[in-house]
Amino acid sequence: MSEVTWAVVVAAGSGRRFGAAKQYERLAGRRVLDWSLDAARGRGDEARAGVVLVVAPELRVASEPSADLVVAGGATRSASVRAGLAALPADATLVVVHDAARPVPVPGVWRRVLGALTQGADAAVPVVAVADTLRELSGITVDRDRFVAVQTPQGFRADLLRRAHAGEPEGSDDASLIDAIGARVVLVDGDPANIKVTTPVDLLLADLLLADLLLAERRHAERPRR
Ligand code: CTP
Ligand code: MG
Repeated sequence: MSEVTWAVVVAAGSGRRFGAAKQYERLAGRRVLDWSLDAARGRGDEARAGVVLVVAPELRVASEPSADLVVAGGATRSASVRAGLAALPADATLVVVHDAARPVPVPGVWRRVLGALTQGADAAVPVVAVADTLRELSGITVDRDRFVAVQTPQGFRADLLRRAHAGEPEGSDDASLIDAIGARVVLVDGDPANIKVTTPVDLLLADLLLADLLLAERRHAERPRR
């Protein structure tokens, strides 16, 4: 069956930990969210059918060059995802939800998430190993190998994600809402470069990662052909 894949980019947060709405900070000459929107759009054969951008109600603009639709988000990330979901065309069969705060494009992560869906997964999310030792505040150090850190893009069959959001549940991501309705989430490899800008130091790191990626792309484009 041919799928109609839409992306929802959530950008309605206030950036409390960053100290500003970080998705509008400058990064390599553009806004953070411009990079995230580009990654969500995809290119060539992998281009998504459409992209919905979810922004804070007070910052809503009529249109954004890289988005097909711009809608107002809610007070929580889950509410913002629901606003994006409500705007999707009825023929969308797959939805990929992405944080605007993850601007470093790592195409392999998108390929793995969408590949898992194509192979029959109902929900697929990228994960990476946890680098630091994990300690409960109560004073117990837990076995780090039992945990992974979860990234976005997170991909879902559209009907399943709608079902997971029915009743307006709250979670810090969408995979946790899928777990809550008893459906199975397939884990694929994320990438340590796919960082979320959470505090100012992350923006510095994103800048370095992007510069490195752009340099590699330029070298690739300029390589001699025969
Ligand atoms: N987000 C959203 N609507 C909200 C809250 C968050 O669309 N009400 C989005 C953010 O804009 C971000 C993504 O969800 O792209 C991940 O959230 P997070 O990193 O927590 O961003 P903020 O909520 O803005 O930051 P903080 O939690 O520090 O306030
Ligand atoms: Mg938040």
